[in-house]
Amino acid sequence: MSEDTQSVSPAAQALIERFQTRQARVGVVGLGYVGLPLAVALAEAGLEVVGVDLDPAKVKTLNQGKSHLEDVAEARLAPLVASGRFTASVSYEALEGVDGVSISVPTPLRKTGDPDISYIVAATQSLRPYLHPGMVVILESTTYPGTTREVVLPELEVAGLEVGKDLFLAFSPERVDPGRKDWTTETTPKVIGGITPTCTKVAAAFYGLAIQHLVPVSSTETAEMTKLLENTFRAVNIGMANELALMCERLGLDVWEVIEAAATKPFGFMKFTPGPGLGGHCIPIDPLYLSWKLKSVKYTARFIELASEINTNMPRYVVGRIQDALNERGQSLKGSKVLVLGVAFKPDVADTRESPALDVIGMLMDKGAEVSFHDPYVDSLSEEDWTLNSVEDPVAAAGGVDLVVVVTNHHALDYQAIKAAAPLVFDSRNAYDLAGRSDPKVVKL
Ligand SMILES: NC(=O)c1ccc[n+]([C@@H]2O[C@H](COP(=O)([O-])OP(=O)(O)OC[C@H]3O[C@@H](n4cnc5c(N)ncnc54)[C@H](O)[C@@H]3O)[C@@H](O)[C@H]2O)c1
Repeated sequence: MSEDTQSVSPAAQALIERFQTRQARVGVVGLGYVGLPLAVALAEAGLEVVGVDLDPAKVKTLNQGKSHLEDVAEARLAPLVASGRFTASVSYEALEGVDGVSISVPTPLRKTGDPDISYIVAATQSLRPYLHPGMVVILESTTYPGTTREVVLPELEVAGLEVGKDLFLAFSPERVDPGRKDWTTETTPKVIGGITPTCTKVAAAFYGLAIQHLVPVSSTETAEMTKLLENTFRAVNIGMANELALMCERLGLDVWEVIEAAATKPFGFMKFTPGPGLGGHCIPIDPLYLSWKLKSVKYTARFIELASEINTNMPRYVVGRIQDALNERGQSLKGSKVLVLGVAFKPDVADTRESPALDVIGMLMDKGAEVSFHDPYVDSLSEEDWTLNSVEDPVAAAGGVDLVVVVTNHHALDYQAIKAAAPLVFDSRNAYDLAGRSDPKVVKL
């Protein structure tokens, strides 16, 4: 018996040994940006992995060895499917007898801006019939501090198993950054907090097979709060960069030049850049989980609220600046043709969730502009009242509009050729950098 497992229950010890000897069979619930890379990493580490997702189309293509994510290459997935190391299913029955389950289902906001943890509740309830002694359940979905203990734990205890002795429960936030190549699921340190210290040890044995650096913390709440700190840190600093852009415009300064100069300081400064707003499934949403939770203890999370207000207003600010740029040329936005370059929420990915492009396009349309877009990764984009398809040739399209606006600076685009063809460019991402600084055709955020 290792020193680490001396003080744990027999069920915990047996389970840890099953992981360490790679005899365990595990499940991953939710095969999206977070779940699929984890499932693949666990299967590559030698475990038999079954993935459960309610989306039949996703499950079908995964079982054919095809990946729906840029970050999971088919060359990695296909052999795992062919060897039976990874299978996907729409049914929770596939989880019968598994030794561990990791849950990464969506945690969006409701229309009211409150957390929507209904996916976590649904997944936990669906899992209940398959709970058994000697099993670990780990929540990965980003959520407010207290969710694992207050919402998931009672669902598991209904099954009559004692958590910490027979059954083990932990929270371990995911840090995946879609599109990033230098840090992967395997190499990014992973924080783990259990309901009890034994839960943390068992969850560490689960992840330890596939992930190089584990960071145990003292509770599920600490692990939940750690994730929210990470994303709040980004949201607040981006908010400050955005406000700096507003201040620089008032003072007649180039915000990009100021930030680049400050970033030469070798210590005590971290570079964040402004833009047309926040996007993605994490940064615009996660801090609001924290501010919502704090309201329940009568505390106002002021930095979060302020950053959210500034960041949310950026699409409107960008549309206002576009209007001003056209006005300078004696044109009105109403009736003008505008080509939006890049609609994904960040460069070099296809993900459009919460993308500021949705707001920018909607507001341009509301003001009477005729809008088209080009994105090398996104074929079509829609909101409730509009749908647009990506135009094929951005250079040709730029020649036929009144203004091009860079919303997302994908590296694959030929910005110089687009600028040469376009009458006017509004650059909200500094895609033109120095070349845009002195060019009368380019108006920068
Ligand atoms: N995308 C990221 O970069 C990222 C990074 C860190 C953390 N997170 C967090 O991880 C969680 C998942 O995010 P994601 O980006 O992977 O979402 P996603 O939408 O890509 O994937 C979630 C999957 O869960 C499935 N699903 C929904 N309800 C289900 C249920 N009851 N049972 C089984 N499957 C179900 C959906 O069909 C979908 O395939 C969220 O809480 C998110 O905040 C995301």
